[in-house]
Amino acid sequence: MRYGYFDDHNREYVITQPDTPLPWINYLGMEDFFGLISNTAGGYAFYQDARLRRLTRYRYNNVPMDMGGRYIYLRDNASGVFWSPTWMPTRHAVEDYVCRHGLGYTRIGSACQGIRADIRFFVPPGQTLEVWDLEVENQSENQRELSAFSSIEFCLWEALDDATNFQRNLNIGEIEVEGSTIFHKTEYRERRDHFAFFSCSEPLSGYDTQREAFLGQYRGWENPAVVESGRSGNSLRTGWSPIGSHHVRLTLAPGEKKRIIFLLGYHENPEVEKFSPRGSQNINKHTVQPIIDQYLNPQRVDEAFDGLHTAWDQHLDVFSVATPDEHVNRMVNIWTPYQCMVTFNLSRSASYFESGIGRGMGFRDSNQDLLGFVQMVPARARERILDLAATQLESGGAYHQYQPLTKRGNHAVGSNFNDDPAWLVLSVAAYLKETGDWDILHERVPYENQPGTETSLLEHLERCIQYMIGNIGPHGLPLVGRADWNDCLNLNTFSDQPGESFQTTTNRNGKTAESTVIAALFTMAANELSHITQHLEMNDEAARLKGLADGMSATTRRYGWDGSWFLRAYDHFGKALGSASCEEGKIFIEPQGLCAMAGIGIKEGLVDTALKAVKRHLATDHGILLLQPPFSGYHLHLGEISSYPPGFKENASVFCHTNPWMMIAEAILGHGEQALDYYLRINPSRREVMSDLHRCEPYVYAQTIAGKDSDAFGEAKNSWLTGTAAWNFVAITQWILGIRPEFEGLRIQPVIPAGWQGFTVRRKFRGTTYEIEVRRKGTGNRVSLNVNGEDIPGTLIHKTTEDCVKVIATLE
Ligand code: BGC
Ligand code: NOJ
Repeated sequence: MRYGYFDDHNREYVITQPDTPLPWINYLGMEDFFGLISNTAGGYAFYQDARLRRLTRYRYNNVPMDMGGRYIYLRDNASGVFWSPTWMPTRHAVEDYVCRHGLGYTRIGSACQGIRADIRFFVPPGQTLEVWDLEVENQSENQRELSAFSSIEFCLWEALDDATNFQRNLNIGEIEVEGSTIFHKTEYRERRDHFAFFSCSEPLSGYDTQREAFLGQYRGWENPAVVESGRSGNSLRTGWSPIGSHHVRLTLAPGEKKRIIFLLGYHENPEVEKFSPRGSQNINKHTVQPIIDQYLNPQRVDEAFDGLHTAWDQHLDVFSVATPDEHVNRMVNIWTPYQCMVTFNLSRSASYFESGIGRGMGFRDSNQDLLGFVQMVPARARERILDLAATQLESGGAYHQYQPLTKRGNHAVGSNFNDDPAWLVLSVAAYLKETGDWDILHERVPYENQPGTETSLLEHLERCIQYMIGNIGPHGLPLVGRADWNDCLNLNTFSDQPGESFQTTTNRNGKTAESTVIAALFTMAANELSHITQHLEMNDEAARLKGLADGMSATTRRYGWDGSWFLRAYDHFGKALGSASCEEGKIFIEPQGLCAMAGIGIKEGLVDTALKAVKRHLATDHGILLLQPPFSGYHLHLGEISSYPPGFKENASVFCHTNPWMMIAEAILGHGEQALDYYLRINPSRREVMSDLHRCEPYVYAQTIAGKDSDAFGEAKNSWLTGTAAWNFVAITQWILGIRPEFEGLRIQPVIPAGWQGFTVRRKFRGTTYEIEVRRKGTGNRVSLNVNGEDIPGTLIHKTTEDCVKVIATLE
């Protein structure tokens, strides 16, 4: 069953019924100001950091679900009937409901009582505010007297404190109202230099700024007393729960339309100009007023909206493809890059499933997210790399997370996730391959953000490798530390106390448990750094690094091979995990994909054998499972992975992030059919037809799809913020379609099914537009290239100075 459809031309997903299985959300804002918005206008806004600068409140896991957001109520003043054009929160029946989630904007509208209302929500590029652009149309035969009420609930900035520290927080709320603007200024009197504003383009018939006055005692957002009565309370009090609500009256002749603009924004004042008049406690509004005036003007709103479209045209213009498969085209051309932008911006911080108060930016996560983003805005990828590197420890290890607002490593989570350093090398390699900007390696970057500790970025990468070879276990494989890519495989935790963090508790000395996943990552990272140093003509260093990679590869073949697949780990007792000799957790997906990508055991035929085992033991119709058989109970020596019921999360769900590694592995071995098949199994657009089972949004990947050992096989969870987006973009574009940036140029090496007659791609790469046509002649994937009419040897197009290059790739 579907709840809507893809409008590819307009790059929108169109939802046609409001009660989707879960709130289907979108993101507003791509730079500093962000909002989550569901298909019924639920969600919230924040500046930079969902925990530290939250503008509006949201109660996660609420009932009814997704209550709280950007709500507009309409009221027919003759009959007293009121409703919400976004269906929520009144849930009053509406007709012709439609929600169009587009790139950086959402439009929601419906008709009720002969009144059509549509709201377009977006953040103008470069601004720290969101626009709600409401259009109301009288589709009835009579003149109508209406009231429109807006509503939001302010968060007192620090979202965790806001939800817990009531003895203080019920006393500190402060609001000012001036004209049609409501200013939220809690704590502005003391250490904050920022405030929020909620403005309206129309003269007000009234306003409310206290929740209880607006809703009425013991009432909720579904039937506010003020809306019911049609009269605002003009409430303005200190403390309790500050909200913002405007009341606008409108008279509409039959057929008449009226546009009303609301702005919700964030503004900072210079310390010395916080108050006006000076010495008062009133916000100085001179700095923000021009911005408000600008965006209350409908023409400027339209221009800003066009600007948003143009920005997305540019981002998506870097890679566009026409293949025989609509699910490939739609996801590659529109939705996966879009999801990559969101994961790049927000890492794992704020989604419908991530509260924005738990995690900041993950070191591992952000480096990986960059892989799918770097082609869109390389300058931002560059800045991110330098920010991440600046949180690195002098030892070469890394803080596992950092807070986006402060850009400082998070002490509470700490370090010793021993795979983290590898990802910095891999993201820098990806950046260099995309841009050829070798200068980045000479940037001076501190450790732990400490001034005076700066070294070149190149030295940071060297220390990543150094850290990893400094942490080697009894078999010569890397020690796992707190965890590797799999945060839930906690081999040194040994936690028997409820509530202890599996990631930060360490009850063993960590000198024995080893990871083949880190071995593969190390091999990849050392090889990449070897190439990088080779390019810099540091030949001895390049050879040394190559030696390290080869050594780790050999060790992995020797001690990391189980006979039919790669082992997962050695536990604290030195016993193999992910081995046929285990009762549960016999085979894991991660080392099969990652070893293939690292080139470990390809020549020797091990990868081929491992891929067959994956197909046999792990592949299902809903994607490839993380492991089999699942852990049926808790194991002290394995940690969080065995805390999940079978089939969920790391305990044998389809953990989607790992699936593209298998697609890449299949492509490396030249198996085009199998690679695309795996790609399509988890492709959200292909799964749209089973939305009642899948339940998450059909336009973005989710972290997991429940596995066959669960009672929810096929049900997705934790959509949006997952490394799945970046890795799928890499797998499909670079390995299956085979358009792959390398240090020295652009590789064209498609590995596609025999049934595909070909495809075309436009790829912008280092200033040149490549128009690539892939034509099938035989049934295999042997490539010959013709560039601008000339046959060239090999599959790599070296960098060129031309603006446009025409490539014909023939597959035989
Ligand atoms: C989740 C993991 C996540 C980890 C770190 C665990 O509870 O299952 O997927 O990586 O938390 O926050
Ligand atoms: C989600 C985390 O964000 C990511 O870093 C980790 O690799 C996976 N879970 C697997 O545990």
